[in-house]
Amino acid sequence: MPTKKSSIGWIGAGRMGYEMAGRLAKDGADILVWNRTREKAKPLEKYGAKVADQIAELAARDIVFCMVATYKDVKEVVTNLLAGKTKPRMLIECSSISLEGSAELRELLEKKGIQYLAAPVSGNAKVIKAGKLSFVCSGPKAAYDEAKPFLDAMGKGSSWVGEGELARIVKICHNVFLGVVTQSLAEITVLAQKAGVPRAAFLDFINQSVMGSTFSRYKTPALVNLDFHVTFTPQLLRKDLDLGLDAAKHFEVPMPLASITRDLIQSLIGNGLDDEDFAKLIVQQARASGLELASENARVDDGLQA
Ligand SMILES: NC(=O)c1ccc[n+]([C@@H]2O[C@H](COP(=O)([O-])OP(=O)(O)OC[C@H]3O[C@@H](n4cnc5c(N)ncnc54)[C@H](OP(=O)(O)O)[C@@H]3O)[C@@H](O)[C@H]2O)c1
Repeated sequence: MPTKKSSIGWIGAGRMGYEMAGRLAKDGADILVWNRTREKAKPLEKYGAKVADQIAELAARDIVFCMVATYKDVKEVVTNLLAGKTKPRMLIECSSISLEGSAELRELLEKKGIQYLAAPVSGNAKVIKAGKLSFVCSGPKAAYDEAKPFLDAMGKGSSWVGEGELARIVKICHNVFLGVVTQSLAEITVLAQKAGVPRAAFLDFINQSVMGSTFSRYKTPALVNLDFHVTFTPQLLRKDLDLGLDAAKHFEVPMPLASITRDLIQSLIGNGLDDEDFAKLIVQQARASGLELASENARVDDGLQA
């Protein structure tokens, strides 16, 4: 059975893909990276990665990872990857995409004799740097077992949830929760502030309470000091809420909180507040409450170094 000596191809050096590929390169993997905008992948060379000019160069690799944006993008890059005669043994797809897209991809790859693992992730670029990325995987157990050492090298672990596209629904549910929790945090933080409590003090209490979480802690600097450097765009979050609502329709599940959160993210985009991180939901919430936020310039811990 191939081990971590397998050669790796990596498609996509965006916010997530760059950091994930960087961790594999630092771990000593033989990794060849392709990104549509080549210069974004170039700095990975300092960690020992090679950068390809053409996506076709990745077809001769044992295992190819894919981390792009939507299913449409996944389909495009995989079609280009497999345009020639050479093919990898396995493809591991990490973008957040639909169950239907993932199933279509599985069919395409299986016809070509390529193993396919669906492996979406939880975490952002900062989380990856802190070694805390996690994967949820589905597909053949043997493919997961082979992929596991590479997944382990990129974060704190992975869960195999079964065959087929099950990982996709887990990830979609995860991101619906992300949207709803972020909107809820924005609402309660603005309510507390309007009643006179500084955001730093309020979130310090929440983070220490049983309601606090890794997420509420690492979003605290954004909410307190209005640091809206993009970790995740409102557009990608809207995509995931739409995936959640499509799945809800398919499985006949009412999701009232997800529906209203989707529309609040839509308002964020419509109001032109989509130029930075999705945590700008708090700015929208404050404006709806007659409040213009200012940074508190407070020393707050993101909890990621602990
Ligand atoms: N950011 C997060 O916190 C986070 C967390 C978990 C999961 N995700 C998911 O992970 C995926 C990537 O997110 P991200 O934040 O890294 O996005 P991003 O920074 O926007 O990066 C997107 C990547 O996809 C590439 N790409 C997009 N369309 C393409 C196409 N048609 N052909 C070739 N390459 C294409 C981009 O290439 P260029 O550089 O040339 O534009 C870039 O490398 C998404 O599915 C997202 O939902 C994100």
